[in-house]
Amino acid sequence: MDYKNILFEVQDGVGVLTFNRPKSLNALSPETLEEVNNVIERARADETIHVLVFTGAGEKAFVAGADISRFPELNPLQARAFAERGQEIFFKLEQLPTPVIACVNGFALGGGCELAMSCDFIYASEKAKFGQPEINLGIIPGFGGTQRLARLVGRAKAKELCMTGELIDAQQAKELGLAAKVFPADELLGETMKVAKSLATRSRSALRAIKQVTDRGMDCDLKTGCALEAEAFGACFAGQDAREGISAFLEKRKPDFKGSLTS
Ligand code: COA
Repeated sequence: MDYKNILFEVQDGVGVLTFNRPKSLNALSPETLEEVNNVIERARADETIHVLVFTGAGEKAFVAGADISRFPELNPLQARAFAERGQEIFFKLEQLPTPVIACVNGFALGGGCELAMSCDFIYASEKAKFGQPEINLGIIPGFGGTQRLARLVGRAKAKELCMTGELIDAQQAKELGLAAKVFPADELLGETMKVAKSLATRSRSALRAIKQVTDRGMDCDLKTGCALEAEAFGACFAGQDAREGISAFLEKRKPDFKGSLTS
């Protein structure tokens, strides 16, 4: 697929997807969503991609939401189908075995905030702003915003943010548990890439297990979640990576996990 709305390149095992429509603050058109879907499928199929990083082109935005200029053409059925397609792609992203870091360099609003919340964690620039401002358009979030925000920051805060449409800064996002870390704007991508490249040297199967068990456990009771964890913990011991990691520790050397990039 030729990309027209995003850039995608792989450096040292890290696939970097850059939303590249800076004139419309990287708004998500239906075509952009399909390009994201294509990258997710590539990452699933391509063993050389160990980690994905999502970021935005330009100084101002990560992604300022779904492309509002396309909304007037939608009837209710088409709008519902658009929301369902976005949700399907974001679920695919969440379920991708590969770790995905949202590198939020500016506005992450509406679909941009929903996309960032579908990644494994968020690193934000001091200039980042998060929010679900759909209420200002007389509509509601459609790509999982009401659901993922409530799970991440709590029900009442999520309802407050969605009902008021208030934008919050990076520091507030960190205090709420939405952003994992905040960096000065000119250090954000470099710091994100350092962590991404470090993840690329870790055990792929252990990273996958952490992702799956954490996400699946959040959707069930604690006991069931812990049972999933114990099962995955046991499964690690059947793999080569656990043998290598444990031996390396005991032999006081760096581990070399099979299929990972060497550090
Ligand atoms: N969809 C389509 N175009 C968008 C957009 C979106 N979600 N967000 C911004 N743009 C466009 C603007 O229309 C403008 O285009 P123009 O230069 O052709 O007029 C351009 O991006 C720059 O935006 P502008 O509003 O001039 O920048 P600003 O710094 O004054 O404000 C925002 C920035 C993000 C606060 C403002 O653009 C905004 O509120 N965007 C919509 C956010 C939103 O509601 N997202 C949820 C959508 S469901």
